[in-house]
Amino acid sequence: MRFGIICAMEEEVGMLAEFILDRKVMNRGMRDYYTGSLWGVPVVLVYSRMGKVAAAATATNIILEFDIDEIIFIGVAGSCSKNVNIGDIVIGKSLYQHDLDASPIFRKHEIPLLGKTYIDTNEKIRKVLTDLCRQFTLNISDNIQENVLKDFGIISPKAITGDIASGDRFISAKEELQSIKDALPSVLCVEMEGAAVGQVCYEYNVPFSVIRIISDTADENAHVDFEKFVDQIASIYSFEILKKYFEIFFEIK
Ligand code: ADE
Repeated sequence: MRFGIICAMEEEVGMLAEFILDRKVMNRGMRDYYTGSLWGVPVVLVYSRMGKVAAAATATNIILEFDIDEIIFIGVAGSCSKNVNIGDIVIGKSLYQHDLDASPIFRKHEIPLLGKTYIDTNEKIRKVLTDLCRQFTLNISDNIQENVLKDFGIISPKAITGDIASGDRFISAKEELQSIKDALPSVLCVEMEGAAVGQVCYEYNVPFSVIRIISDTADENAHVDFEKFVDQIASIYSFEILKKYFEIFFEIK
């Protein structure tokens, strides 16, 4: 068995690639795929870069070329709900493409081949990941210093399961965010890859999960401190969450 980890930007998972044992690198379609094992689990790690096409191309290749049994996509997202704050974690349930609209031929958001407007992540894995992310947020000060958390206004972060919307736009304007919220009221956060990976995984029948660490509020301030957040917060979250998951991986299978 082999586990696929996809992340848009290298910085979002910190030093994860350095921890892969027996690491080998293969370049395909202009991306490096790192194979080896992490905490005993055979893995392939790849950075897709931003956007749905990049994510879909990467997901397709990792499934076909590396015979992957399960995929996790991890990275940052902008909040779409007043109950979701910077530093919270969203474990994706239904993944929508907020910019997919072939109406009136199809329903708004409908994926033409599939006749579905969203793709669900795997329920069993989602529950495991939600518990594990909750543990991580409860003990956040074990991994990140209080003063660093304070710098980003993170007080008591939480982990919640909910819907995610992906699209080929970095959302940084209130009106744009509002139109996504109006069209998809259940969505907790916005990002640029998850639903594309979800569509490919559905088409190939590969279980997948999406974990998003909230880096911004998808408004005019979205770009402020973005890189600093990825470096100082998101990279630690992702690393620790994946580590916790792989440590219990074979127990829950
Ligand atoms: N990823 C992180 N923040 C985002 C935002 N505001 N819009 C889209 N993708 C994001």
